[in-house]
Amino acid sequence: MSENHVIKVALLGLGTVGTGVYKTLQGQKDEMKFKIGADVEIKHILVRNLEKAAQKVENPEILTNDWNQIVNDPEVSIVIELMGGMEPARSYMLQALQAGKHVVSANKDLIAADGQELLENAQEYGCDFLYEAAVAGGIPIIRPLKQCLAGNHITEVMGIVNGTTNFILTRMTQDGMEFEDALKLAADLGYAEADPTADIEGLDAGRKVAILASAAFNSRVVFEDVYTEGITKITATDILYAKEMGWDIKLLGVARNTPDGIEARVHPMLIESTHPLASVNDSYNAVFVVGDAVQDTMFYGRGAGELPTASAVVGDVFDIVRNILADCCGRIGCTCYKTLPVKKMDQIKSKYFIRMQVEDRFGVLASVASVFGNNSVSIAQVIQKRKRKDSAEIVLITDLVKERHLKDAIKVFEGMSIIKEISSLIRVY
Ligand code: NAP
Ligand code: HSE
Repeated sequence: MSENHVIKVALLGLGTVGTGVYKTLQGQKDEMKFKIGADVEIKHILVRNLEKAAQKVENPEILTNDWNQIVNDPEVSIVIELMGGMEPARSYMLQALQAGKHVVSANKDLIAADGQELLENAQEYGCDFLYEAAVAGGIPIIRPLKQCLAGNHITEVMGIVNGTTNFILTRMTQDGMEFEDALKLAADLGYAEADPTADIEGLDAGRKVAILASAAFNSRVVFEDVYTEGITKITATDILYAKEMGWDIKLLGVARNTPDGIEARVHPMLIESTHPLASVNDSYNAVFVVGDAVQDTMFYGRGAGELPTASAVVGDVFDIVRNILADCCGRIGCTCYKTLPVKKMDQIKSKYFIRMQVEDRFGVLASVASVFGNNSVSIAQVIQKRKRKDSAEIVLITDLVKERHLKDAIKVFEGMSIIKEISSLIRVY
């Protein structure tokens, strides 16, 4: 192979990740021709604001705000989409693939909704479409699921895939902070975005779970299939009780391949303090994968940020360069060859942590136990503490129960005068 191959690429977006990719490619400049057999040259960078972007690059002449200049340039082999959002990112990626250009993207919002269409276009036009950075930033997980673990039937993928919420819950656990204070700290330190809704309501994690489940179970799961619940109702008191009972509270994305369908959900969850995911703290992410051959595996690292995310993007670009040189592009495309049903939450079984305020008098605990018993809910652990003069706080953990049965019991409690408040209802792993 000659040593002077040059693969020309275009970057769409020069924000956090785009700048990281620019820097990472520069950092690999001297080694890449030995590592992958070619030099990667950024020929164009698409931005909205040319002046702002000019401060970030050594060669501002490569900046443009004209997409046509890129899609119509036959020298551009790879388009790296780092603009985010649905449009025009979707149209640009489809046009690039249809023009025979390979595409790399970190755009989880778009891939969780339209991944199938993008992968089908890639296949039709003989291109690669890679998106390692879309889930858990710098942590390799899509490639392991599609390639290294392909010899398994994967039964479960579960993880902490949102750094902002993990940082908030860590501060609540380690410093006893309440949610609002921890969120403010996350914003002050630059973890939480100006509008933190997608993070704290579990939407960002939900998109990642859709992408993970599709890759793990070979069946398409889209964001709309994923049940999402955020961390805004978690209190320092819940975390304290959980700790006392041997658990930590984490925002977990859970995808399971069960005989009667796929479970795909994101919600706060109590996890045993001895589980490897319980020790994943601050803004770190981790994904736990269970396969029938490999058994338990865990992938850990930085789930976001300029350089960690760029690491995954540049890994994809280098893979495509190798495929181009070996003339084997489109080798690994869509791996969803099954159509499995996705279960509704009502069909799912879970254990529950329930914290409730009740009248502090004899017979109340027996009444609570009887409502649970009448609704097929069995209790595994109970703590009762007197809070005020006439009110007690009961905290209990149930055995595995169908979500439907638990909700029926809660409805009964809501109509009982001895139950003053159901303060928390959190699933248990
Ligand atoms: P960002 O900082 O907001 O940067 C977006 C860039 O795209 C900006 O340079 C923006 O230009 C440009 N842009 C947006 N719309 C454009 C348009 N229509 N035409 C031309 N340029 C446009 O975003 P980011 O954090 O780098 O995220 C990029 C993608 O990576 C998103 O899909 C995100 O979900 C994903 N991701 C991010 C992280 C992370 O840690 N940040 C981690 C994993 C995945 P202007 O500045 O001129 O508006
Ligand atoms: N907002 C995300 C997080 C990073 O907090 O993990 C981008 O995926």
